[in-house]
Amino acid sequence: MIARTTIFAALASLAGMTAAIASAGSAKEAEHHHWHFAGPFGTFDKDALQRGYQVYETVCASCHGVEQLSFRNLGQKGGPFYLNTCPAGFADNVDCSNPNENPIVKALAAQYRYQVLDGPDDSGDMVERTPLASDRIPGPYPNEVIARLANNNALPPDLSLITKARHHGPDYVYSLLIGYADAPATVEITPGQYYNPYFHGDMTQALKPEFLDAEGHVVDGVVVPVGGVLAMAPPLVDGIVDYADEATPETVEQYAADVVEFLTWASEPKMEARKSMGVMSLIYLVILCIILYWSYRRVWAGLKK
Ligand code: HEC
Repeated sequence: MIARTTIFAALASLAGMTAAIASAGSAKEAEHHHWHFAGPFGTFDKDALQRGYQVYETVCASCHGVEQLSFRNLGQKGGPFYLNTCPAGFADNVDCSNPNENPIVKALAAQYRYQVLDGPDDSGDMVERTPLASDRIPGPYPNEVIARLANNNALPPDLSLITKARHHGPDYVYSLLIGYADAPATVEITPGQYYNPYFHGDMTQALKPEFLDAEGHVVDGVVVPVGGVLAMAPPLVDGIVDYADEATPETVEQYAADVVEFLTWASEPKMEARKSMGVMSLIYLVILCIILYWSYRRVWAGLKK
């Protein structure tokens, strides 16, 4: 009996907890974008990956790292800058399909906006040097303290795995980037904070005092806006990145879609290999079934009469 009451009490408190979590804040459901990489046969759009890298490097890299990636990954098969063969003018003994020899990757590393910290040298000091294709892509801040100092005490997360770390990651990051909006009239936002309906937060705390009663409860009839506030100012504006390809629009939506394509690739560079492996296994199983069925007919053929 005691056991049963304990279970009921536990269940009741669990239900209470879930209700509390549900009411702690809500966000607008992410826009559903049609992705080239979606579905069992989806692949990455290489042009979008290249543009996405450009958006990351020009805009997001001021605050976010992609520390799981090395420059050489950009030139691996399936990566944004993979080359099957060398461009004209290269010696025969150079293999550009090798990411360490890929001229685009080497140039991107050599011209990168941050240096890598190497060493210690002979006198025990750490030295900064130009990155090589084999180096990890260096991030903007040497450590978390400096990152927070530069960002109003918020920490810009590393973006290498962000599309996996969030629910419906690609749709969510896309919606977040294009979804900044003016704060609703019922809330007051502190400087350095920005309202975004897709960000999970609790806007109750931001309600203007006149919408809260003496105990801090929301006054009847006042609707708490969905979304939340974050310390990232809208990073994209039309025209901020100059695409070499004149046909691609230089709009916030296009930049957001391209950078999400790149970040999704970054979180799973082997996705295409995994999917084609799945398709090959299915074909193999289908052929196996046909052979088995055929041999079954052969084996039993004589006995049926
Ligand atoms: C000026 C600095 C700055 C730039 C530029 C910037 N961000 Fe951020 N970003 C931040 C900070 C700070 C946070 C943490 C915000 C918080 O938790 O309040 C953040 C958070 C994020 C998050 C996490 C949101 C979540 O759900 O927790 C994503 C995704 C993100 N940024 C993507 C991007 C992308 C993509 C770009 C480039 C298009 C970019 N950011 C450019 C500073 C920046």
